[in-house]
Amino acid sequence: MRPYVLAVAGKGGTGKTTLAALMIQALRAKGPVLAVDADPNANLGEALGIPVERTIGQLRDEILEHLADLPPGVPKDQLLELGLHECLVEDEGVDLLTMGHGEGPRCYCMVNHVLRRTIETLRGNYRYVVLDNEAGMEHLSRRTTQDVDALLVVAEPNPVSLRSAARIVGLAEELKLRVHRKFLVLNRVESEGLRGLEGAIREVGIPLIGAVPYDPGVAELAVAGRPLRELPPGSPARRAVEGILERLGLGKEG
Ligand SMILES: Nc1ncnc2c1ncn2[C@@H]1O[C@H](COP(=O)(O)OP(=O)(O)OP(=O)(O)O)[C@@H](O)[C@H]1O
Ligand SMILES: [Mg+2]
Repeated sequence: MRPYVLAVAGKGGTGKTTLAALMIQALRAKGPVLAVDADPNANLGEALGIPVERTIGQLRDEILEHLADLPPGVPKDQLLELGLHECLVEDEGVDLLTMGHGEGPRCYCMVNHVLRRTIETLRGNYRYVVLDNEAGMEHLSRRTTQDVDALLVVAEPNPVSLRSAARIVGLAEELKLRVHRKFLVLNRVESEGLRGLEGAIREVGIPLIGAVPYDPGVAELAVAGRPLRELPPGSPARRAVEGILERLGLGKEG
């Protein structure tokens, strides 16, 4: 089975993790979801209320540390595969994989190569993969955001944020990422809406798929350190995210 891969990108603090978590919440009822926190400053687990004990970054460090002590003949890829499964936290309808980061300036090439292959294989077990990316464009430029069905670029409804979104779109094109479709999502939209921003939105160069309103419920949960699954059904942000999924063909009926 090839899953539908959704990735979220955007400038710092635009709402990537919030959007990813709300999409995961909606999709987990429809089929198994692999949630990947690709931000070294990981917090998707917190947003989902899934505790993270081990990250891929930690696993890579441990493996590199012990590589020299391993008896010859122990296949490194099997070891990584085993470790990878320890990094996968299972919850109802969703498994979470947290990439984290390595400690030192080491060469992770070998480990990264095996990891990428293993994650590719793992993906086959899910109906959906949702990737929460880091703020910068590092992931895009390291080409880990590949083979994506829909890339959602999140921006806030102001010209500066929209220009950042345009830069991300430009970079994704320059790198020739294997992204099937790209969409713009506006987040924290206040009641005055998008008036006066039509030109700036057009200049981003990708279709606007939805506007998520400022939702006091989301802000309150963040302040209280509570997961987004406690956001009541029918709340404005939840409804907007459901609308986006519907337009992607991933709605309740899809
Ligand atoms: N629609 C919304 N309504 C109210 N608050 C929101 C909304 N979207 C996001 N927030 C709040 O804004 C803050 C930043 O959101 P979030 O962490 O999702 O952004 P991010 O893009 O993932 O940030 P980072 O770049 O640091 O990873 C959080 O406190 C979140 O609760
Ligand atoms: Mg985030």
